[in-house]
Amino acid sequence: MCKVKIAVLVSGGGTNLQALIDARNEGNLKSGEIALVVSNRADAFALSRAARAGIPAAHLPKDGFEETLNALLLEHGVGLIVLAGFLKILSPEFTAKWNGRIINIHPSLIPAFCGEGYYGLRVHEAALERGVKWTGATVHFVNEIPDGGEIILQKPVEILPDDTAESLQKRVMREAEWVILPEAAERVSKKLLEEQK
Ligand code: GRF
Repeated sequence: MCKVKIAVLVSGGGTNLQALIDARNEGNLKSGEIALVVSNRADAFALSRAARAGIPAAHLPKDGFEETLNALLLEHGVGLIVLAGFLKILSPEFTAKWNGRIINIHPSLIPAFCGEGYYGLRVHEAALERGVKWTGATVHFVNEIPDGGEIILQKPVEILPDDTAESLQKRVMREAEWVILPEAAERVSKKLLEEQK
């Protein structure tokens, strides 16, 4: 059965990429195949994770990033883009061109603590500052509004009395992000395959 070729865009440690690789290795990515990893940071450990998993990977320089990315996506026959800890804002032209075929993992229950300036630890600091009892992660389609696209999956995580932003981030990644991102990638890939029939 043919699979949707997936490109994973990264900027940092790549633990969400690793969750996708683990899902592949466990046979839980039936409709999609991780065909390419692209980073906007040369020092992203995610690139080492890709190399270890035998996945073609590239660091693209800032100049002409989207043009070079588009050429690579075309070359690899990519049908779905997954933003996994990717910190560069994609242009409205790019997201329009790939409408319905870019998904992103955000470390909160959107619409809480999302949008401009909410990424990484800042999201968890905001949740602790506000005193919410629950937070979690969201996978959503990407459009021109930061974290504004249609929500695909969410998973809640309880905030504990002694949580710090660091302990909360780790638990949200482990208990929510690394669970719903592979699940969403499979679900969207399956739907894209069905639409091709
Ligand atoms: C994670 O908190 C993720 O939610 C956010 O970027 C952080 C790092 O992710 N999008 P990763 O370890 O590089 O996948």
